[in-house]
Amino acid sequence: MKIVVFTGAGVSADSGICTFRGGNGLWDSYRIEDICTADAMLHNREEVIKFYNIRRKELLSVEPNAAHVAISKLEEHFRVQVITQNIDDLHERAGSSDITHLHGELRKLRSTKDEHLIYPIEGWQQDPTAHSKGDGALLRPFVVFFGEAVPMFEQAAEIVSTADLFIIVGTSLAVYPAASLVNYVRPWVQIYVVDPEVPNVSVPRNPIEYIQMKAAQGMPLLADKLIKEYAKK
Ligand code: APR
Repeated sequence: MKIVVFTGAGVSADSGICTFRGGNGLWDSYRIEDICTADAMLHNREEVIKFYNIRRKELLSVEPNAAHVAISKLEEHFRVQVITQNIDDLHERAGSSDITHLHGELRKLRSTKDEHLIYPIEGWQQDPTAHSKGDGALLRPFVVFFGEAVPMFEQAAEIVSTADLFIIVGTSLAVYPAASLVNYVRPWVQIYVVDPEVPNVSVPRNPIEYIQMKAAQGMPLLADKLIKEYAKK
């Protein structure tokens, strides 16, 4: 049985990483147009680099939480593919082995010219004057900004369309095209949603079970339930 887990900022909230929306989210203290658009990268470069430096520094000081660990543990019993909107590396650090990052990765930089020229970053601080070895262009965070293409979307949709069970953890489903992934789940495939709130999962053809808890509580409970119910005895 293949389980696809689709995560958002809420899965990392219990590690101490801010979400974007809802109570004191990042977008309550920063304007998206100042920080998370190609235009901001062009005209507000220093602020954008500073914003992601702060995120990277924070990431180095936190650990995966019980939700990341529970998702990784599912791999002992099932084929598991993780699709995340998060740019943190907490799924990797918890041991998940098949992860698709829809919106990029905080621990990498890329050429401002060629998005395929990607470089890991040591530590948390991007040197604003550093250039790509590949094409000599200035570097930028390897993050998909609002209004930019989401190169991994097709691959993610393909993965979702082959899920036998679909778990949504900690996403408001407010951002497209990421949120439209729920429409690629085959009809009648069971969906679970782990989130203290109830995001609008408008897929009438699928049975949905809401686990209205924080991910660090709800995801381990769900993993245990699935292992008991479905894992080969
Ligand atoms: N456990 C589980 N879910 C939680 C927790 C928690 N402890 N705390 C908050 N949540 C839920 C919220 O109820 C909400 O549904 O996590 C979700 C967070 O929503 P957003 O902040 O909108 O984050 P996300 O859905 O990942 O945003 C999508 O928006 O700004 C862009 O690129 C950014 O990838 C991000 C995208």
